[in-house]
Amino acid sequence: MKGVEFNARVQRIPVYPAAKTWDYEGELIQLASNEAPWGPLPAVVAALQGEIERLNRYPDPGKTALRRRIADRCGVPVGHVAVGNGSCELLMSAADALLEPGAELVYAWPSFSIYPHVAAQSGARAVEVPLDADGRHDLDAMAREVTAATRLVLICNPNNPTATALPLAEIEAFVAALPRHVAVILDEAYVEFNALQDPDDSLDLVGRHPNLVVLRTFSKVYGLCGLRVGYAVGPEEFRLAVDRVRQPFSVNALAQAAAAEAIRHQDEVTRRVEATIVERAWLEVELEDRGLSTGESQANFLWVGLGDREEEPVVDGLAQRGVIVRAGAALGDPGHLRVTLGTRHQNERFVAALDDLL
Ligand SMILES: Cc1ncc(COP(=O)(O)O)c(C=O)c1O
Repeated sequence: MKGVEFNARVQRIPVYPAAKTWDYEGELIQLASNEAPWGPLPAVVAALQGEIERLNRYPDPGKTALRRRIADRCGVPVGHVAVGNGSCELLMSAADALLEPGAELVYAWPSFSIYPHVAAQSGARAVEVPLDADGRHDLDAMAREVTAATRLVLICNPNNPTATALPLAEIEAFVAALPRHVAVILDEAYVEFNALQDPDDSLDLVGRHPNLVVLRTFSKVYGLCGLRVGYAVGPEEFRLAVDRVRQPFSVNALAQAAAAEAIRHQDEVTRRVEATIVERAWLEVELEDRGLSTGESQANFLWVGLGDREEEPVVDGLAQRGVIVRAGAALGDPGHLRVTLGTRHQNERFVAALDDLL
């Protein structure tokens, strides 16, 4: 588009550091994007097939059936549930609805790599507050950054990429002490894997704090990231605002049907969480045996410290052996690997590739 001038905002928006794709002639082990290692349940596949016949129709703009199922599962009124094209869309729409030039957005860093985009696309000032020495949110330091200009605080619990989680009581005390003009989004993409709390506990917080929104996703434990569905539970005003700033049909019909079916299978969620926690404990020990540190993980991935080893040769060496993990440098903290927990076979392939390499 020679001669065309893009607006100044575009220059400020960082390019999302998506995981690289690699050519590998063998079984590629993908442990870079915190995805579930399992394909969709047969009942979800059946729901998708049923929907295919109707693809000549637009999806339900109200996402009614899915929102009702989420509301039932979460024990909240359906009006308090917003559904997005991935939880990322809800984050971006929240930015659109709440932020503007001159406003401030506070979040911890390193944290989910989309947060800098949330600020940049709105023109708001990003206030990044370093994690503490254990890779946890430093809520006291975050509270000190809140000003009259702060419109939104993001808390990622468990945090991506460090996998740490804070006790919910600390988060509640932080939210309760904030001035009322500040909205809080509690990003709980990995909440199901967090052994420190029951996933339902944070939903209770929403009823007690009118400026709090809990954000969740079907991309992780439900294994539907290819379809893009996330949801928010919060005040009805939040849903109405995000619905105004995005296109009405943003969540496609297949995504709505699959998520509405997947949420009915809580027994499968429990099974997946248990399997992941078993792998988490297994891989932590394997890595420790090799002198590699992992902090305490409450998620479906490990944040592995490489000590004084250089990160890039490790990431590339693993990729050459068909194992894809995320380099810490791309996520804000070099000297680390972020490794998604896969099946035992996949995790063993990762360990074998490490042994070969180191
Ligand atoms: C903390 C966090 N929030 C949100 C998401 C995005 O999820 P979605 O696929 O629902 O957009 C991710 C995905 O990696 C994440 O790590």
